[in-house]
Amino acid sequence: MKRLYIKTYGCQMNVYDSARMADVLAPHGYAPVDAPDDADMIILNTCHIREKAAEKVYSEIGRLRPFKRRKEANGDRMIIAVGGCVGQAEGEEIIARADCVDMVFGPQTFHRLPELVARATRASGEKVVDIEFPAEDKFDHLPEEASSQGVSAFLTIQEGCDKFCTFCVVPYTRGAEQSRPVAAVIAEARRLAASGSRELTLLGQNVNAYHGRGPDGTEWTLGQLLFELAESVPEIERLRYTTSHPRDVDDSLLAAHRELPQLMPYLHLPVQSGSDRVLAAMNRKHSADDYRRIVDRLRAARPDLALSSDFIVGYPGETDQEFAETLRLVTDIGYAQAYSFKYSTRPGTPAATEHQVPAAVKDDRLSSLQQLLRAQQTAFNQSKRGAEMPVLFERRGRYDGQILGRSPFMQPVHAEAPERLIGTIATCRIVDVLNNSLKGEVLTVEAESAVDQPVAERVRA
Ligand code: SAH
Ligand code: SF4
Ligand code: F3S
Repeated sequence: MKRLYIKTYGCQMNVYDSARMADVLAPHGYAPVDAPDDADMIILNTCHIREKAAEKVYSEIGRLRPFKRRKEANGDRMIIAVGGCVGQAEGEEIIARADCVDMVFGPQTFHRLPELVARATRASGEKVVDIEFPAEDKFDHLPEEASSQGVSAFLTIQEGCDKFCTFCVVPYTRGAEQSRPVAAVIAEARRLAASGSRELTLLGQNVNAYHGRGPDGTEWTLGQLLFELAESVPEIERLRYTTSHPRDVDDSLLAAHRELPQLMPYLHLPVQSGSDRVLAAMNRKHSADDYRRIVDRLRAARPDLALSSDFIVGYPGETDQEFAETLRLVTDIGYAQAYSFKYSTRPGTPAATEHQVPAAVKDDRLSSLQQLLRAQQTAFNQSKRGAEMPVLFERRGRYDGQILGRSPFMQPVHAEAPERLIGTIATCRIVDVLNNSLKGEVLTVEAESAVDQPVAERVRA
């Protein structure tokens, strides 16, 4: 058995891809390990979205080099591979900059890993780079057999992006938008359910631009797919999707939020800025008021919907006034959670050559935005004190006797309750609100007979 260590950076799509890389390599004798020290193969599944994310890869390679040298001194080999979006964007340059790297590949070629590994492990010590956008569909070449992802699982349904926001590398690293057929998604959802998953998060860089081929031969929307999943995979009790784009919220998606109890009332809907001038410069193709109206429609469909977003401060040319419009939008919407970033120059993207905002200004803006967002998040969490809500328990907690799950709104909830509740939804009363989690007390549990059986057996029954 060969030891495989995978380290994942970046978004959930990379988390999903890393799991699939392990699936591809499993039949070739590679088994995942938790530490890099003595691994036979190390894969860094990387992110190129901001400069810092990309630079992390090189410091990690520096950290790994002594492990590799030690193995070589003992007459063994350690293959170091860089996959993911830095691999795609920088290709050969990575090997030029870090000679201990043996292999570079991108998000669209990891199904070829067995062949790439075979080349890299030849005695000649050949360096291997594969950053094609291949004609074949990666998903057709991934093994059906997938390792269990646990109670809450990711399922990639769409990849790539055709939106070309001026700050963003994704259209270059992930390529053009592509959707998997409905039947393939349903089949994978069934397999995940059979391996114990109760919640699915459908993934795509632009997941609501989904347009996969339906069983009737027409192109289906994300809304249609959600209805189909809810109906034909009943073991999946919770559905989520991420990341969505405001431009692609259509009537079928609103209907899914209105009518599907399985679709959780929490939505990550990035807006980036509250200024129309900045939104236009970013090529987001919607105004701040368009976004407000979309949120109104979503909340009309699902009144308890909680929202999260991404923001960029200090986009080239952003004025104090324009930044103030972002703060105003945040105040208008009210977020349960959010991510905010200083604009980071990405070589090759259109915004990189525009007039840059000074670093100190970005710092100030980021801290005032984060202060506001933090206050909203605290207020949202506090509003749940005393509430009763269904919690899907996913794993053991940090302390003995404690289990950990999530609220419908993605908040971590811990409770003192028996481990047999893991994999089930239990109604909890929220008795305390801590900094990053809620404390719950379990009120009702499923009938004892049902929960006494292991999860996998209940699924098959
Ligand atoms: N597809 C998603 C976002 C993908 S990238 C969408 O359209 O919203 C995740 C987040 O990273 C983006 O929402 C954006 O806020 C941030 N981001 C992307 N490029 C960036 C850059 N050059 N500098 C700073 N933040 C960036
Ligand atoms: Fe990047 Fe824009 Fe595409 Fe999102 S929609 S992945 S921000 S180009
Ligand atoms: Fe990063 Fe690539 Fe995801 S750049 S955010 S890992 S699509």
